[in-house]
Amino acid sequence: MSGLVVGVLGGTGPQGRGLAYRLARAGQQVVIGSRSAERAQEKAEELGLGVRGADNAATAAQSDIVIVAVPWEGHAELLASLRAELAGKIVVDCVNPLGFDKQGAYALVPEEGSAAQQAAALLPESRVTAAFHHLSAVLLLDPSVDEVEMTCWCWGRSGPPPTPCRLWRTGSRGCAGSSPGGCATPTRWSRWSPT
Ligand SMILES: NC(=O)c1ccc[n+]([C@@H]2O[C@H](COP(=O)([O-])OP(=O)(O)OC[C@H]3O[C@@H](n4cnc5c(N)ncnc54)[C@H](OP(=O)(O)O)[C@@H]3O)[C@@H](O)[C@H]2O)c1
Repeated sequence: MSGLVVGVLGGTGPQGRGLAYRLARAGQQVVIGSRSAERAQEKAEELGLGVRGADNAATAAQSDIVIVAVPWEGHAELLASLRAELAGKIVVDCVNPLGFDKQGAYALVPEEGSAAQQAAALLPESRVTAAFHHLSAVLLLDPSVDEVEMTCWCWGRSGPPPTPCRLWRTGSRGCAGSSPGGCATPTRWSRWSPT
């Protein structure tokens, strides 16, 4: 696993940085992506731990596993633009489809069922799974927190689970789940199965 490069699209935001930090702290090679390579490099330097920064396309191209951590409103456009770079790779989608109004956030129901299902539709040559939707970026980014206790399901289409998802679920120090449990996952459960 540590020989693989993990890229994080939208990795300059709290969730992307939090996941990058935990993965790097567990010894993973990590690249964070952004619409601006410069911003990604700045944020990568702040994280330290050997995390690198690049624009989203370069991040996808140089990674073996790619986490999607952009807001819902940018999800479809970004993934459609990276279809070639993401072909043949494992894509881990942690995007919660949310709208915002004066009262705060509210859930949206994507036409495809969930953000990850939209990703799977847009990326037919990638292996898309859904995970990490419920993890707190605040906890992930807090260096005084040694372990983030969580239960985490990875969801995907039928077939054996992508190995990295199983390993992250059970083996990454500070970013590991002890057993499958609830997490914000695809809205339509019936078409996807836990991996
Ligand atoms: N925050 C949490 O605690 C949390 C927890 C679980 C799941 N999530 C999910 O993780 C995702 C990221 O959350 P976040 O709080 O880190 O979000 P965020 O800060 O709003 O966005 C993350 C990054 O995405 C990029 N971005 C913003 N708008 C974009 C667009 N239209 N197209 C492409 N890229 C865009 C920005 O990077 P650049 O400007 O550098 O490109 C931004 O730094 C969300 O889908 C959220 O539902 C968040």
